Amino acid sequence: METVTDNAALRALLAPLRAAGKSIALVPTMGNLHAGHISLVEKAGQSADIVVTSLFVNPTQFGANEDLDTYPRTLQADKEKLKKAGNQFLFAPTIEEMYPNGLTQSIVHVPGCTDGLCGGKRPGHFDGVSTIVTKLFHIVQPDTAVFGEKDYQQLCTIKKMVTDLCFPIKIIGVETSREADSLAMSSRNGYLSDKERAKAPTLYATLLQIKTALLAGNRNHESLIREGIQQIEKQGFVSDYLEIRNASTLQPAEQKNKELVVLVAAFLGNTRLIDNISVILKPEKL
Ligand code: PAF
Repeated sequence: METVTDNAALRALLAPLRAAGKSIALVPTMGNLHAGHISLVEKAGQSADIVVTSLFVNPTQFGANEDLDTYPRTLQADKEKLKKAGNQFLFAPTIEEMYPNGLTQSIVHVPGCTDGLCGGKRPGHFDGVSTIVTKLFHIVQPDTAVFGEKDYQQLCTIKKMVTDLCFPIKIIGVETSREADSLAMSSRNGYLSDKERAKAPTLYATLLQIKTALLAGNRNHESLIREGIQQIEKQGFVSDYLEIRNASTLQPAEQKNKELVVLVAAFLGNTRLIDNISVILKPEKL
């Protein structure tokens, strides 16, 4: 595996491969890799000849009071995991390389699907994500790019951005990897105390309960949400949001929508966890 830290060097390495007809897949990450990231790298390997994983803790997607400074940085361990997974190029640029004019610069804003949810609770977050992913797309020029479904709103945002801005890139979403007790894998799980970690699976259990109720015909979204929030708050979470939305547009779900997604974000102590579950309702019997 080759590790590259500057844009020009990466472009120079990839150009002859592209000219030789090799397809390229990109896996953007912020490092501190876990099995969920590795499943993205594996998916990328199935979809293209060459896999480039980027590792960059992107400052513009963190709010002023968020965890940019403490975000886990584990480059050596990440390299070992990527080598084992068969990743060919690791792109680990410096901040100067990604923000040559400093952090006050052009931004990419994707309207619509960034409304509310994490977009509402973390102002500027998705502008930071879309901007850095755009830069990565320009540098790597991949044929495909792979993102986790755990960050559902991010995945919708990137899909919309690619269509809006005519990037010739196929976006692939990969199912959320879960721990044995169903907690969604996340770099931020490492912040949890043992006590908090034991309570964390309540989040997904609550999503599953809402899904079961929806599939059983319960259409009272308001009461499902109210009860869901009560359940997670009883376990010590502070809810940031719990919502049922249209799975493709991410607008608030209407009764006629059949493809839904239930999304949650909640704090356990200082740690903010997110998760989601898709629900496909059967068409009404006539
Ligand atoms: O999902 C992430 O880790 C980040 O938001 C991403 C896509 C790498 C952009 O910094």
